[in-house]
Amino acid sequence: MTERPSIPHEQNEPGRIRAGVVGIGWAGQQHMAAYDAAPGVDLVAIAGKEDDVRAELAAQYGVTGAYADGEELVARGDLDVISVAVPTFLHAPIAIAALRVGAHVLSEKPLARTGEEGQAMVDAAREAGRILEVTFNHRRRGDIEAVRAAVEDGTIGRPYHARAMWLRRAGIPALGSWFTSAEMAGGGPLVDLGVHVLDWTLHLMGEPRVTAVSAVTHAELGPRGLGGSGGVKHGTGSAYEVEDLAAVLLRLEGGGSIVLETSWASHRSTPDEFGITLYGTEGGADLSVVDYAPSGELTVFTGDGEERLDTRVEAPAGRGHAAVVETFLAHVADPSTWREHDGSVGLSRARLVDACYASATAGREVALDEDLRIIGGDA
Ligand SMILES: NC(=O)c1ccc[n+]([C@@H]2O[C@H](COP(=O)([O-])OP(=O)(O)OC[C@H]3O[C@@H](n4cnc5c(N)ncnc54)[C@H](O)[C@@H]3O)[C@@H](O)[C@H]2O)c1
Repeated sequence: MTERPSIPHEQNEPGRIRAGVVGIGWAGQQHMAAYDAAPGVDLVAIAGKEDDVRAELAAQYGVTGAYADGEELVARGDLDVISVAVPTFLHAPIAIAALRVGAHVLSEKPLARTGEEGQAMVDAAREAGRILEVTFNHRRRGDIEAVRAAVEDGTIGRPYHARAMWLRRAGIPALGSWFTSAEMAGGGPLVDLGVHVLDWTLHLMGEPRVTAVSAVTHAELGPRGLGGSGGVKHGTGSAYEVEDLAAVLLRLEGGGSIVLETSWASHRSTPDEFGITLYGTEGGADLSVVDYAPSGELTVFTGDGEERLDTRVEAPAGRGHAAVVETFLAHVADPSTWREHDGSVGLSRARLVDACYASATAGREVALDEDLRIIGGDA
């Protein structure tokens, strides 16, 4: 049964933003906390299947509109902004419905399971004249921002190669949940973690165009029931149908390159480690974040062959989802920015993930056109 608000929808207070969040798992809860803390914003609606969690969160945030189904939340039609933090196959239908009733949408990553689905979301945002943004919270980490600063102030020079990764030892997000269903998730660690790695790496390198992708995927542990992280996620009973490790070489316009590795499960040292080693013409940077440390180990390397300087950088912890939500709300407050924030960045990442899977399936490199579509169609 769907809960109904106990009182009719409150009158819209002029100048205040009315926010709704679809999805009450870990991700949805980050959006709720961020809206709750944002000045001028009222979190008035949440939706999610878990009755107990929904009731607790509604009480915690004083939310009167608590629904079991995201469609009902969207159908209210009175929300200015809606966050979409549901299993990936539901991003497109919920976001498109939300855009069509005039809400600005902040979708969780990845934008969608495929570039094609992502394109439909971007089209809907453009038609509605509303914002569509994707939660790339990792690029808002303090340590990643410190690497970006070392690029921007010239310390690193022109970055020409990156080795970037997010590797887990036993971190399949709840074996048998929606995450391991090809239909519901669209893929494994590549679409889940790899999309973050692609985002922060391309961001740090100044958004070079990717011209070709060569990827290999493996599924050695997950299908044997190994490498689960425990925990509870939506959609129990799913088979293990996705990769558990992927390796990718990306060629960049102008000759640059990226080597990317990602795994949910692999026999290695640390339970969870992500980071980047960035090589530039004047210097380099090495960032490693182990087990979600708020700030990772960051060293910047400069000097020539004779004199070498290693500088340890203590970066502040970033504000993750809070920073992403604040930026989204700042864009919402400024209509002159709406057209620009149409989900294109998320779409570009989704197309690259498509290219990785196409390359892995074909067993060869795929070349990409200027829009990151595979040249010659399917690989
Ligand atoms: N940015 C990040 O750091 C980050 C971290 C974790 C997850 N995510 C993303 O957030 C999304 C959710 O992941 P999660 O880990 O919170 O998953 P989860 O399984 O813990 O939560 C999913 C939520 O969606 C709800 N849901 C499912 N169908 C629904 C429907 N029809 N209507 C309303 N609610 C519905 C479920 O009830 C559940 O509350 C995914 O896209 C994931 O990739 C992002």
